[in-house]
Amino acid sequence: MTKIIALFNQAGGVAKTTLTMNIGYHLQKCSHRVLLLDLDPQASLTTFMGLEPEKLEITIGNSLTEEEDDEDLTPKPIPIHSAIHGMSLAPSNIGLSAAELFLVNADMRDIRLKDALEPIIKDYDFILIDCPPSLGLLSYVSLVAANYILVPIQCQFKAFAGTNILLKTVARVKRRANRGLQIAGFVPTLFDSRRSQDERTLTAIKERFSKVGTIYPPIPWSTSFADAAEARVPLAIYDKNHKALTVLRNIVKGLENL
Ligand SMILES: Nc1ncnc2c1ncn2[C@@H]1O[C@H](COP(=O)(O)OP(=O)(O)O)[C@@H](O)[C@H]1O
Ligand SMILES: [Mg+2]
Repeated sequence: MTKIIALFNQAGGVAKTTLTMNIGYHLQKCSHRVLLLDLDPQASLTTFMGLEPEKLEITIGNSLTEEEDDEDLTPKPIPIHSAIHGMSLAPSNIGLSAAELFLVNADMRDIRLKDALEPIIKDYDFILIDCPPSLGLLSYVSLVAANYILVPIQCQFKAFAGTNILLKTVARVKRRANRGLQIAGFVPTLFDSRRSQDERTLTAIKERFSKVGTIYPPIPWSTSFADAAEARVPLAIYDKNHKALTVLRNIVKGLENL
């Protein structure tokens, strides 16, 4: 069965997009068929994967909306760019924020992404959804379409403030719209072992969330992540011996065993 995993945290800059691309890369290395969905109008994932968002005429936003005179309500096919570092990508651009506005008054809005994915689910083993940094409708449709959420959580004290709201949101979606939604785990990110606050926060994350889901080993802070993104390649291609690769492979094992 295809695993649809939303990388979700309403905070920005916690490495959702970086993880989506790199976890996707290691999943395809293990012979899985991988689709990445960029659900963020800022389109970082689309950029990291080497596309130019502003040049795209059709994005995933087109599959969530319809024109007023459309008679056929079947969602438009999700536009897919294949064979990028062994993965497929459904890209985004700033037009996706118009799609989000459209959704505000759209009927059946909850299931629009789920519906649009239906015809292509069988083509993939893993579909990773890179959620935007908000609790808005684009995150909501992602959580309704997903079977699992993976929560990147920054190893800094302020990360805690938002996590209760995050878990409440997940609980609400579970109760109302997607009973099968499960937490695949928490990935502590941007961990700098030289900072005592990061160590303390990591301990606190383990104490607070190990009952809720798996806590993966932390992803170390390293400028190589940003450098790899700038070079539009996964970390493993940028530096094949980077120490964070072990952690990424460990997460992939966990996702395979879900
Ligand atoms: N482990 C890391 N160490 C240092 N910088 C990182 C790491 N992971 C991601 N980054 C950088 O942090 C920034 C935010 O990451 P990003 O994945 O875009 O976060 P989000 O999608 O949650 O907003 C990017 O510039 C990215 O290159
Ligand atoms: Mg992002």
